[in-house]
Amino acid sequence: MLEALERGGVDTMSDCRRGECGLCQVKILELSGEVDHRDVFYSDRQKAPNATMCCCVSRAVATRPDSTPENPAQSALVTIDVP
Ligand code: FES
Repeated sequence: MLEALERGGVDTMSDCRRGECGLCQVKILELSGEVDHRDVFYSDRQKAPNATMCCCVSRAVATRPDSTPENPAQSALVTIDVP
């Protein structure tokens, strides 16, 4: 997500790009699916409400991993506010 923002010309902050420093955190405004928090910056308690995410390593994922071709999972979508 961070690289996509940068390619889109969004002024972002980052340092480690490994989910350690938290500089790339963005506020989540709307979420369809779940956030796959892959960072080590937030505690489990901080990750639980899905209010923010480290956009260098974390992503939105569909909520139903047991999808089939006849019953596909819905796409994941996250709307963020960039500082
Ligand atoms: S750049 Fe350090 S956590 Fe994303």
